[in-house]
Amino acid sequence: MKEKIANILNDFREEISSVNSLEEVEAIRIAYQGKKGHLKTILKDMGKLSNEEKPVIGKLANEVRDEIDSTLSRKVKEIKNLKMQKKLESEYIDITLPGKRQTFGAIHPTSKIIKRLIDIFYRMGFELTDGPEIESVYNNFDALNAPKSHPSRDKSDTFYFDDKTILRTHTSPIQVRTMMKSKPPIRTISIGRCFRNDEFDSTHSPMFYQMEGLVVAEGITMANLKSTLDTFARELFGEETKTIFRPHNFPFTEPSAEVDVTCFKCKGEGCKFCSHTGYIEILGCGMIHPNVLKECGIDSEKYTGFAFGMGIDRITMMKYEIEDIRRLYENDIKFLEKFRR
Ligand code: PHE
Repeated sequence: MKEKIANILNDFREEISSVNSLEEVEAIRIAYQGKKGHLKTILKDMGKLSNEEKPVIGKLANEVRDEIDSTLSRKVKEIKNLKMQKKLESEYIDITLPGKRQTFGAIHPTSKIIKRLIDIFYRMGFELTDGPEIESVYNNFDALNAPKSHPSRDKSDTFYFDDKTILRTHTSPIQVRTMMKSKPPIRTISIGRCFRNDEFDSTHSPMFYQMEGLVVAEGITMANLKSTLDTFARELFGEETKTIFRPHNFPFTEPSAEVDVTCFKCKGEGCKFCSHTGYIEILGCGMIHPNVLKECGIDSEKYTGFAFGMGIDRITMMKYEIEDIRRLYENDIKFLEKFRR
C-alpha cells in the first residue's frame, strides 16, 4: 500500500510538471483528489490493514494529500501569473513614443457667414424657415408673379426636371411656402442653395447660396425695409457702412430695389474690387407685390410686406477678400486652412 501511495505521488509529480493551463490543472485535481480520485480509491482498502499499519499509512496518505494540494494551488498561481505577464507584455505601451498628430478641421467660410447672418437676424426677431431645393415651377415663378415670358424661366437658364419641377433658382419660393402656411405677422429668413445654368467662372457658380428675408404685417412700409437692411449692413460690415437703394425690377416686388454697400476694401474711395464705384451690390429687395400676397392667401388690403434676397457667396467673398467664387467650392484644404480661427 505504501508503495501504491508513493507511486501515486510520483505519477502526480510527473504529470503536474508538464501542465500549463488551468483546465489541465483542474483535470489533474479531479483525477487525484476527487471523490473517485486515485488516492481515495486506494484508501478504501485501509480497513484491511493491521492496527500498526493504519496510523503509518494514514499519516503517509495525509502527507501525500497535502503535497498534492499545495502543488496544485502553487501551479494555479504560477499559471495565472504567467498569463498576466503575457497580457502585460502584449499590451505594453511605450509612453515615450511621440504621439499621433491630431489634425483639426476648420469651419467653411460660407458656413461662418451663414451663422453670422442668422445671429444678426435672430436679434432683430426673425425666425428661420426652410424650403426644398427641388421646387415647383409654380412656387418658383408663377406664384411670384413672374410672367410666362420672363427670361429666367428659359430652359437654358434654369435646370428643369420636367415642365412642373425645377431646381430652385432663388430662395424666393420659400416666401410663397411661408405665406401660404402662416398668418401675418410674419418675420422670417431662409437660407439655402440655389441653381442656375451659369458658367462656372470667377464670379458665377451654377450652385450658390442665398438668404431670403420676409416680413408681412399691418402697416409695413419701405421705411421698415430700409432700416432693417441698414441695420443689417452696419452689423455685418461695420458701423461706418453706407447703403444705396437703386431702383430695380422684380416681378414679385413693387417697388423693387437693388442694394449696394460701401466697398469693404476701399471704404468708398473706389478700387478694383468695386469697379471704382466705391460700392458693391449685395441684394435685391422690395415691397411684396399685391398679386403675390393675394396668390398666397393674404389680404393685400390689410397687410403689406417686404422681402429681400442676398447672395451669401458674394458676401462671404467680400468679408474674407476671396477673389474667385470657385475657391468656395473646390474643397482645397490649403485654402480652407486659412479659416481656422
Ligand atoms: N429673388 C431675387 C433674386 O434672386 C432677389 C429678391 C428677393 C428680390 C426678394 C426681391 C425680393 O435675384
